[in-house]
This record gives sequence, C-alpha cells and structure tokens, in this order.
Amino acid sequence: MARYLVTGGCGFIASHLADALVARGDSVRILDDLSTGKRENAPEAAEVTVGDVADAALVRALMKDADGCFHLAAVASVQRANEDWVNVHRSNLTGAVAVFDAARQGRGSGVPVVYASSAAIYGDDPNVPLSEDGEHRPLTAYGADKLGCELHGRVAWQVHGVPTTGLRFFNVYGPRQDPASPYSGVIAIFADRIAARRPITIFGDGNQTRDFIFVADVVAHLLAAMERCAGGAQVFNVCTGTATSVLDLARTIGELAGQRPEIRHDSPRAGDIRVSIGDPRRATRALGVAATTALADGLGRTLRFGAKAG
Ligand code: NAD
Ligand code: UD1
Repeated sequence: MARYLVTGGCGFIASHLADALVARGDSVRILDDLSTGKRENAPEAAEVTVGDVADAALVRALMKDADGCFHLAAVASVQRANEDWVNVHRSNLTGAVAVFDAARQGRGSGVPVVYASSAAIYGDDPNVPLSEDGEHRPLTAYGADKLGCELHGRVAWQVHGVPTTGLRFFNVYGPRQDPASPYSGVIAIFADRIAARRPITIFGDGNQTRDFIFVADVVAHLLAAMERCAGGAQVFNVCTGTATSVLDLARTIGELAGQRPEIRHDSPRAGDIRVSIGDPRRATRALGVAATTALADGLGRTLRFGAKAG
C-alpha cells in the first residue's frame, strides 16, 4: 500500500484518479478548496482537507509521509484565467511551486510529483499533430501558467532532486465533469443542454478542433506516470491523436441523445486555439499506455451518467 497526496481530488479528473488509487488499496489524502470540486466526488476512504494549494505550510504538512503526489488542483477554465488573471495565477502556478517545494522537503530524497500540464502550452502551433518537441507558444494566461509549471518541474529535479512528470492533457471529458458553469468544458455543457432540449452556443464558426480524451484513459496515464516517475523531469502528451471539430461534436452528441441540437453562434473566445491535435506516441512508448476509448463510446457513457445524475 502506498500513500498519495492528490491535490484537486474533489474535482473531475482527480476524483476518478482517487477512486482508482483507493480501489487498488492505496491510501489517499486530498487537498481541495472546493472552488469547483465537490466533496461528494471524493471516495469515502480518502481523507479530505479543504484548503488552498498555494498555502505552502499546509501543503508541506500534507506531503509529510507521502510516497508520491498527484498535483491536479488548478482553475481548469482558460476563460476564467483570462478574466481573473492574478488570482488564477496564484492557484495555477504558485500552487505548483508550493507542491514542488513541499516535495523536496518530504520523505527521503524527494517525493515524486506527477502534475497536470496542458495542451494549452502549445498555443496555435500549426505543426500538428503536436509533439512534445514542438514549440511552446501559449496564447493565454492559463497556458503560460501551465508552461511555468513545467519550467518549475524541471527546477525541482535539477536543483532539488525531486522527480517530476508533467502530463499535457488535451481535452478531457467524462462522467462528473460539471456542466453547470459557463466555464465548464464544452462536452459537459453540450451534453447537459442537448439532453435537456436547450440551445447550445458555439463560439466562432465551430470548425475549431480539439483532441478529446476520455477520463479513464487519462487516469491510466496518471498511474503509469507515477510508476515510472523515478528520476528526471519529463513531460508527455495525453491525447488520442484524433481531432474533432466543435460542430461535429455537437452533431454527434445530438445523434446519441436522439435530438437535433439548436445551435447559436457567438464571437470566438479571446485566445481560443484553432487546431489542437496531439501526438500520443511518446507517452505510449515511455509509459506503456494509450487511449483506447472511442469518442462515441465515451460520449455515450457521459450522457448516461448525466441522465442518472439529472
Ligand atoms: P476541476 O475544476 O474539476 O478540478 C480542479 C480541482 O482543483 C477542483 O476540485 C477545485 O476545487 C480544485 N482547486 C482549484 N483551485 C484550487 C486551489 N487554489 N487550492 C486547492 N484546490 C483547488 O477540473 P479538471 O478538469 O478535473 O482539471 C484537473 C486538472 O487538469 C487541472 O490542473 C487542469 O488545469 C488540468 N487540465 C484539465 C483539462 C480538461 O480538459 N479538463 C485539460 C488539461 C489540463
Ligand atoms: C480545455 C480545458 C483546459 C485544458 C485545455 C487543453 C476545461 C474547462 N478547459 O480548454 O483546462 O487545459 O482544454 O486543451 O476543461 N466552446 C463552445 N461553446 C461552449 C463552450 C466551449 O463553442 O459552450 C468551444 C470553445 O470556444 C473552444 C472549445 O469549445 O473552442 C473547447 O472549449 P473548452 O471546453 O472550454 O476547452 P479549452 O478552452 O480547449
């Protein structure tokens, strides 16, 4: 049995991770400020502390005795980071530094940290599929902070001997992704609205593409990354290699829900990336995992979850 600190464990992705850790018998401690997460998302067996990941003393106390840390606490909305720049920066970058700092003071020679980076670090690089060796030109504060996490992750290893692995998640979807806020991920919003026969809004022409990956496939990457996070500062894409436009996404969700979605268009979001497709090959080679859930299958599971929850 291993002991893990999971930041953001009451949120969408990290609560699925916490479930998987508990299911295999590991002990899980969660730090979450419940800003978007919900306590009921966390498994009952996990110990939940409500607090801020940028509170260095608190993170240090929770890191004590941990065998590893999964750092996923952050404001996940690119749009919110545009609007509330300074506060989001504190969660998204100061939080990561607090985690790396606590990890260097933790057990032994440094507690290994696997953390959430993002495809947003690539910005509008037209060289798709995007590979880890490509350019980093974030267009938004959110992307800049995630790139900052990677730079500090490298410092954590080079200066302090803390092994770090950054996972550049592309667009993650699945059960428990909160549809309620305008800052939510597009699949959660579309699935919720279309099932309720309410109109959806597409920002721009809808031909922007994303590489949508199902949450269970992301959890498999997180677990494999921790297993292999023994030394160094690594980064990997977590993606499928397949692009879907926002317009096609709306049509597919409509078909699965047996509805013809009513689509309204609004102006594009500032800093919205036009084309996002990742190259998964490095992660597959190094971590021995690959995304296996087809979009229609993952969307079906997401819709069924929404129907039960609603
Ligand atoms: P989420 O909002 O469901 O989860 C984030 C969790 O972090 C929430 O429970 C929230 O309450 C918590 N949190 C936020 N700020 C905090 C703070 N200052 N202190 C403590 N807890 C805090 O979002 P998610 O989609 O599960 O995202 C998880 C991670 O993955 C984030 O780091 C996000 O940036 C990253 N990511 C997500 C996606 C995606 O498509 N969902 C893609 C790339 C990267
Ligand atoms: C998402 C994640 C971000 C992650 C990034 C990686 C969320 C909230 N954001 O950002 O954490 O780092 O992927 O690629 O999970 N759209 C509409 N109508 C809507 C909502 C969105 O047209 O009602 C469009 C957006 O303009 C955008 C696309 O859908 O073009 C995806 O938007 P969104 O789900 O917010 O994700 P990203 O901004 O790609």
